[in-house]
Amino acid sequence: MTQDELKQAVARAAIDYVVDGEIIGVGTGSTANFFIDELAKIKDRIKGTVASSEATAARLRGHGIPVFDLNEVESMAVYIDGADEIDAQGAMIKGGGAALTREKIVASVSKKFVCIADGSKLVDTLGKFPLPVEVIPMARAVVMRKLAALGGQPKLRLKPGTDQPFITDNGGELIDVAGLSITDPVALEEQINQITGVIAVGLFAKAGANVCLLGTLDGVKTLS
Ligand code: 5RP
Repeated sequence: MTQDELKQAVARAAIDYVVDGEIIGVGTGSTANFFIDELAKIKDRIKGTVASSEATAARLRGHGIPVFDLNEVESMAVYIDGADEIDAQGAMIKGGGAALTREKIVASVSKKFVCIADGSKLVDTLGKFPLPVEVIPMARAVVMRKLAALGGQPKLRLKPGTDQPFITDNGGELIDVAGLSITDPVALEEQINQITGVIAVGLFAKAGANVCLLGTLDGVKTLS
């Protein structure tokens, strides 16, 4: 099975977590895209969705699935999204697809976070994948100095093929921090959240995944 087939398998399995008649929170990335394509097949069973990025909103709308503004929604039964890394406790690194801030916001309004990922994303210790941090552009340099003081190697994410900063859906910039061995993800999330100029950090540890559907060669495994 290819990595895409494993992603497709977990996307299909995630349909079991969709609650009929409800609004579903939808993540961003290639695994989330497979989920959106599966959701389209049962779109008449749900009221609609809240999207965690402009790209996700466009894909949902392309399938004729209603997309609600989060300001119109008080709570959701479930949020379904991928991850760049996840540990056995459900703590995750997210943001490889640049949507970490909206992902965190939509997840915070959802009662359950279902992570969908191929088996390569499961790690013992988070940090091999560079940790994304979204910042206010004018604070880029000061935040990078503070992240370096925490022991990481921060690097500004660039728009592909240019030397210009990548700009998020929120008008923020992204710093990817390599070289961290994250032994206490909750503490590091709190520490980075305290840095002035940080919009959000791609560590989802204080509120991690409640369930992880992991695509493996032996089938979809459920960690909860
Ligand atoms: C986007 C994310 C994605 O969930 C993460 O990057 C995983 O992406 P993919 O499903 O393409 O492997 O956090 O901001």
